[in-house]
Amino acid sequence: TIGLAVAAKAAGKLYFGSATDNPELTDLPYVAGLSNASDFLQLTPGNSMKWDATEPTQGTFTFDGGEQIVQLAQKNGQLIRGHNCVWYNQLPNWVTSTSWDNATLLEVVANHCGTIVGHWAGQIWDIINEPFNDDGTWRQDVFYNVTGEAFVAAALQAARDADPDAKLYINDYNLEYGGAKAQSMANLVSSLKAQGVPVDGVGLQGHLLVGGVPGNLQSILESFTALGVEVAITELDIRMTLPVTDALLEQQKADYQSVISACKNVSGCIGVTVWDYTDKYSWVPSTFSGQGAACPWDENLIKKPAYDGIVSGF
Ligand code: XIL
Repeated sequence: TIGLAVAAKAAGKLYFGSATDNPELTDLPYVAGLSNASDFLQLTPGNSMKWDATEPTQGTFTFDGGEQIVQLAQKNGQLIRGHNCVWYNQLPNWVTSTSWDNATLLEVVANHCGTIVGHWAGQIWDIINEPFNDDGTWRQDVFYNVTGEAFVAAALQAARDADPDAKLYINDYNLEYGGAKAQSMANLVSSLKAQGVPVDGVGLQGHLLVGGVPGNLQSILESFTALGVEVAITELDIRMTLPVTDALLEQQKADYQSVISACKNVSGCIGVTVWDYTDKYSWVPSTFSGQGAACPWDENLIKKPAYDGIVSGF
């Protein structure tokens, strides 16, 4: 069977990719799998480009962790998705505990995004991560509470100014189901475009459940590309309630296939990234109690039926 990235390329996509994280890079069999460019032509650093990792103290930037993953990708001939610039989570204390005024926080956001996007130039970036609640209202985080929606444009514009070649995305979860949250994202993209604010893509994270993949995912993707942006599935994993059974693995294979074919069928969908390729390093069990086995390789780095589901989806 052909590799995942080979299949993605044959379908006209830019990449198939995987998230990874720095502590995993001491696991040599894992790194060998990650470095196989037949499967992966793109890496996303799972943690090491986040705000707490890159600007732990105001104005002092640390690029080492992100750099390690960029260098691995370069060695392997893989693209990077930078992740991420502005998110409510994994923020250093100085961001959350200062009482900002509007203008100062906008400068802080612009400086943070401009610096990291300028440092890691020429990449695709999740500039804004998870701005909405599931009901489509804005998340009441430090950025929104102080600046309203203005932080979004400040971040995007600073990123564009720092690197005109970077592709700038807004990324969120549960957009896959349509509804209020997807509508809010579409409204945001339309309004940014109307104001001339740079935005190139919408990332659909794709943290999904076995048996729960929406049947109209393709039309959801098309509802975003109709606005003049590209889309990507940025953090795909399809979790199940444990224990694993053969029936669940077969359903998971079908589910992976259907997500992949939705992207395949939309020309503006540039690629798919799994949120790590093996159950050994998945974030799922520690986040969703009683659930796991969400990745296409098992914890012993053996391919699951989902692998063939991905290939046939393309
Ligand atoms: C997760 C990482 O995988 C974990 O290692 C970390 O402890 C928490 O964050 N949506 C995102 C990602 O955009 O940044 C999250 O990554 C998973 C959910």
